[in-house]
Amino acid sequence: NYQKRIEDLIQKMTLEEKVGQLQQCGPSLVGAFEVSFEELLDMMFDGRISQEEFGRLMSTAEQDFHEEDLRAGRIGSYNGIGDAATANRLQKIAVEETRLGIPLLFGYDVIHGFRAVTPIPLAESCAWDEKLWERTARMAAEEATSAGVHMTFAPMVDAAKDARWGRVSEGAGEDVLLNALYGAAKVRGFQGEDLTADDAMAACVKHFAAYGAVEAGKDYNRVDMSMQRLYEEYLPAYKACIDAGARAVMPAFNDINGIPCSVNEWLLRKVLREDWGFDGMTISDANAIGECVEHGIVCDRKSAAKAALEAGMDMDMTSNVYVEELAELVRNGELSESVLDLAVENILRVKFELGLFDHPYQTDEEREKATLLRPQYRELAREAAANSMVLLKNEEYHGAYSSPADCGFKPILPLKTGTRLGIFGELAADRGEMTGAWAIGANAEDCVSILDACEARGISYRYSQNGENMLKIASESEVLIAVLGEKKDESGEAASRAAITLPETQVKLAGDLLKTGKPVVIVLFNGRPLAIPDLAENMPAILEAWHPGIEAGNAVLDILFGDVNPSGKLTVTFPYASGQCPMYYAHINTGRPGGKSKFTSKYLDAPLEPVFSFGHGLSYTQYEYQDLHIEKEKSAFRICVSVKNVGSFNGAEVVQCYVRDLAAKRVRPVRQLKAFKKIEIAAGEKRVVEFTIPFEELGYYDWNMNYVVEPGEFLFYVGGDSRCTLCEKVILE
Ligand code: IFM
Repeated sequence: NYQKRIEDLIQKMTLEEKVGQLQQCGPSLVGAFEVSFEELLDMMFDGRISQEEFGRLMSTAEQDFHEEDLRAGRIGSYNGIGDAATANRLQKIAVEETRLGIPLLFGYDVIHGFRAVTPIPLAESCAWDEKLWERTARMAAEEATSAGVHMTFAPMVDAAKDARWGRVSEGAGEDVLLNALYGAAKVRGFQGEDLTADDAMAACVKHFAAYGAVEAGKDYNRVDMSMQRLYEEYLPAYKACIDAGARAVMPAFNDINGIPCSVNEWLLRKVLREDWGFDGMTISDANAIGECVEHGIVCDRKSAAKAALEAGMDMDMTSNVYVEELAELVRNGELSESVLDLAVENILRVKFELGLFDHPYQTDEEREKATLLRPQYRELAREAAANSMVLLKNEEYHGAYSSPADCGFKPILPLKTGTRLGIFGELAADRGEMTGAWAIGANAEDCVSILDACEARGISYRYSQNGENMLKIASESEVLIAVLGEKKDESGEAASRAAITLPETQVKLAGDLLKTGKPVVIVLFNGRPLAIPDLAENMPAILEAWHPGIEAGNAVLDILFGDVNPSGKLTVTFPYASGQCPMYYAHINTGRPGGKSKFTSKYLDAPLEPVFSFGHGLSYTQYEYQDLHIEKEKSAFRICVSVKNVGSFNGAEVVQCYVRDLAAKRVRPVRQLKAFKKIEIAAGEKRVVEFTIPFEELGYYDWNMNYVVEPGEFLFYVGGDSRCTLCEKVILE
């Protein structure tokens, strides 16, 4: 309990020192670049500098760390410093040269790994594996804290149903339950068991709230939705992270029903603190407080500062409005000092909890060197990448090539050892693109491309970047691999797309390869669902590899050659056409559910069903689901099903349980994921899987925002994807 120490400290602080604790700044770069951290981020996002260049600039000495401000107690935190030497140097100034010696808090975007970059979150969510999510977060914390980081701006749990939104890559897909479980696992992994430990990193949950619901998938756009949907489909994911102990929350850039989250008192005080009991700190998104002027919710920066602080925004990330305005506002009597004190208290509490007052230097260069990119981290990055990949399609090939698979028919994959490959597409050779968006601690040289992995395995291959010499290469190869997809800056922040298709040249390349008559495997590297109806229809084998991180090439070959049996399942829907977005499995039925007749809910020019559904993912073996049996217990339904591996490979299956409330006083989704279990099943083995679904979880928010559990009929579906048909009806009295 640090309360007494916090109060004593606040007593001693001047107004300026209090405001200083609320200020997070990024180093601005001097010399060749006279730009702020924010401008630099912009330059990276719009492609003027690469992610590597960004990382290089951030780690060089040409930076202005605003040391005079630091010495004067005007800075409480830095964003974007990820090296032990700089962090310790600045910490020394804070601790030894400021009047009160309050330690700094270093924040950093450790989104999917630090140096040992793991798959983008969307990819990793497709592993449906809470233990894995936690382990990779622990690894990220060990690395990042060795480089001086105290807090990560993660996890992002913005459920996203619209694949046009670029930041779909940074969360756990479209479903709220998956985002909740993913986020909680990340919080546990980042923070570890003891927050004061040197390798514990505070988690900052973002972006609160419902950023994933921006209208038309356009980044930073408005979010306007019913309270029922907000409470049922979005808020539970953030709450799960708070319940898991997350120490910080980042309000979102967007507004919710007209009030920007940065100045949304209902969200930041009522929901977060009063209802959920959060006592950590809130920190704005970059420049977001200042941007309230652009939102048109305040007329100037002074009012923005006042509105944000009063609404419950504790720390200002880089917009400088707090340092510019707050002291004056208090002096003029326009803002109560007690509101300021509350914010200071929240920030100091997190600093105490992290052990910074008693142990401000939590790392040094020696630890950093011994920690970054340890061999076991590479191994985990490879395991995570292989387990995140989703085998979308794997059909029989009727020509001479035959794979070791036997499922009653002979699919192309896995490839047999020694297969001669013809590899096409620039992404096969590219290391830097493999990390995906938001991997600012990454080094392209650390990454393994597909070609690197082929070299390392001694695989015989021919390569063409764009299809030149196709016929010659095809004639010398047994299997052709087309490596297609998006570059890393085509998804992520500020990377919304109106058409989520592949470029024509890539689709043509795939078509031309097919015409050679050789077996063709498509490997996709991308950060969002894509509308790829042609590939889905015509290509015999498709592996969704996402942006897999530093071990990309090795993990792809692990899957293609069957060293790892694919077990990933989609956590997002792949629509047929961009115009169907948002397309998601948990939609409502409508009064005229889509069907053959004209006047039903559908498009004239696209099929009803997606190209690949939520939950879909193939394996090199097959599973049979039988004996669904549901028992009604005192306060829950117990659901049992047997799953048999009827193929010839050992595998892991994600057993999914969905529910449908057949009639309620508010329309309910046609299916809603309620539980899942990922189980290992050896070839020939049969396992019984059980789920317990409390009656309480079958409720919903009624018109008056009361959570009600209504009696009636429910259908429980159990199977390997969201279109499974094995189902049983139950009655809740
Ligand atoms: O954490 C990020 C956020 O997701 C987007 N704006 C910048 C922040 C900090 O760098």
